[in-house]
Amino acid sequence: MAIRVVVLASGTGSLLKALIDSQDSSFEVVALVTDNAEAGAIRHAATAGVQVAVIAPNDFADRSAWDLALADCIDFYQPDLVISAGFMRIIGDEGVNRFAGRLINTHPALLPLFPGAHAVRDALVTGVNETGSTVHFVDAGVDTGQVIVQKNVDVIAGDDEASLHERIKVVERELLVEVVKDFAGAKKYFGQKADR
Ligand code: GAR
Repeated sequence: MAIRVVVLASGTGSLLKALIDSQDSSFEVVALVTDNAEAGAIRHAATAGVQVAVIAPNDFADRSAWDLALADCIDFYQPDLVISAGFMRIIGDEGVNRFAGRLINTHPALLPLFPGAHAVRDALVTGVNETGSTVHFVDAGVDTGQVIVQKNVDVIAGDDEASLHERIKVVERELLVEVVKDFAGAKKYFGQKADR
C-alpha cells in the first residue's frame, strides 16, 4: 500500500505539485499543511483533492503554541513521511522530535553551503560557479540535518536569482520524487507498512 505523505509549504507550491503529479502506488500526498493562508500551494492541493490545513503563527499565543499545533496537525494525517517543500519557517523541537527520521526538507543549495532563507541569492552574491539542491533530514538546526541526496546545478553567466532558482527547482522536483519513492520502497522492504 502507498505510504502517507504530508507536505509542508508556504509559497507557490511547484514542488508540492510535482509530488502530487508523481503519486503512484508507492505514495500518496494526503495533506498540505501551510503557515500561509495565501500560499499558491493551496490551489494545487485543492485542485488535486488533497486536504489543506492552515496553521498560521498569528493565530497562536506564542511560538511554542504554534510548534505544538503544527505537530498535532501533521500527526492528525498519520504520515509515514513529512516533507518540508518550500516551508519557510523553522520547525520547532516538538515537530523535529515527533517526526524524527521521517521529516525531510529540500533546500536550494549544496548544504552545508548557503543554509537559510536566501540560499539562491547567497550563492549568486558569493560568485560560485555551481550550486544545487539538497534533500536532507530535518534536525534541530537550520538546514543542518543529515544529507540524503544532493545534485549540482551550474551557475550560468547572466543568471539572476529567479532564473537560477527556477533551474534548481527542476532538480529539486526530480530529487524529491526519487527520495519519496526510495523511502516508500524501504518501508515496504522492511515490512513496516504491513497494516496499510
Ligand atoms: C524551493 O526552492 C525550496 O527548496 C525552497 O523554496 C522553494 C519552494 O518552491 N525552500 C527554502 O528555501 C527553504 N529554506 P515552490 O514554492 O515553487 O515549491
